Order: sequence, then C-alpha cells, then structure tokens
Amino acid sequence: MTIAICPGSFDPVTKGHLDIIKRSAEIFDKVIVLVLINPAKTPTFTVAERVELLRRSMAELPEDCRGKVAVDSSTGLLVDYAKEHGARVAVKGLRAVTDFEYEFQQALINKKLYPEFETVFMTCNSHYMYLSSTMVKQIAAEGRDVREFIPAAIYEDVMNRVYRPRPCDADRAGV
Ligand code: PNS
Repeated sequence: MTIAICPGSFDPVTKGHLDIIKRSAEIFDKVIVLVLINPAKTPTFTVAERVELLRRSMAELPEDCRGKVAVDSSTGLLVDYAKEHGARVAVKGLRAVTDFEYEFQQALINKKLYPEFETVFMTCNSHYMYLSSTMVKQIAAEGRDVREFIPAAIYEDVMNRVYRPRPCDADRAGV
C-alpha cells in the first residue's frame, strides 16, 4: 500500500488544495493531509483550527476519494512524521515557476534527511493558478466574497476571522 502525504500550512485550505488532495487520492492508496508548521509564515488559524477546517472540507471530495483521505498535524519535520507513518511520498502542488525554487529546496532537504522519501510535483489545475491562502485572506479582509476560492463549509469561519469592517464600511451599513 502506498501512503502519500499532502503537506502544507493550509491556513486555510483552498479549493486549489482540495483539487490536489482529490487527484492524489485517485493515484495513491491512502492520502494523509498533514498540517505542518511553516516557520516563515505567521498563521491566522491555529494548527487545531486548520485541522478542523480541513476535516470539514473533506465533505466536498467525491465519496470514493473521501474514504482514502485522513487529516492530521505535526509540529515536527515532515520526514519524521513520514517515517513514523510508513509514508514515502509527498505530493506538492505547483502553481507556477515562482513556486518551484522553494519547493525544490524543500524536496532536496527532505531527500537528504530521508533518502527513500520522494516528492512528487503535481501541476495545479489552471483554474487555481493564481490562488493562495494568503490572497484569499487579503480579499476576505476587505469584505469581498471568497466563496469561489474556498470550500463552502469553511466560508463563515474565514470571514469571521479575517474580515474587519473599517469605519467607512460601518457607515455604509448604517451602523
Ligand atoms: O503550505 P506551505 O506553507 O508551502 O507548506 C510548507 C510546509 C509546512 C510543508 C513546510 O514548511 C514544512 O514541511 N514544514 C515542516 C518542517 C519541515 O519538515 N521542514 C523541511 C525541512 S527544513
């Protein structure tokens, strides 16, 4: 049985992530969606919250994929989690060449730490080329509709966390 890990910050999960998770589940026997710490990012949601948002979002995967996918988290290294859980593959979505250098560096470091570990790069669906959690949060912070970009199940959570009406918005709302 080949177990693959889809690692990431998932702060929060987007439809682009869901697309990669779904396509991974179509290829591998089991997929662990793993929330990890990216020290370069200041998170909006706690790890526990991100896991919860991911678990809820799994309802949007097709039935046959859903049964193969588990959501988990770790505060340690990806390769240590992978060894402990019998996973030898990580799947990462690539949006554009801009992602490549960072992802390549991560893949090489992980291979150095765990030589049997493979990183598979999946080209993202062209529909989600421009999509990132950071951009979703920026758009949502301005009160704009981000339903097109994130699973419906987490829409309220994202808006409640990031949308901060400015005084002029309050005026417009007649407050
Ligand atoms: O969604 P992201 O932020 O691009 O995901 C990056 C992530 C969280 C997968 C990466 O930072 C990571 O693997 N963090 C765990 C620590 C680790 O194993 N780092 C690689 C060796 S330095």
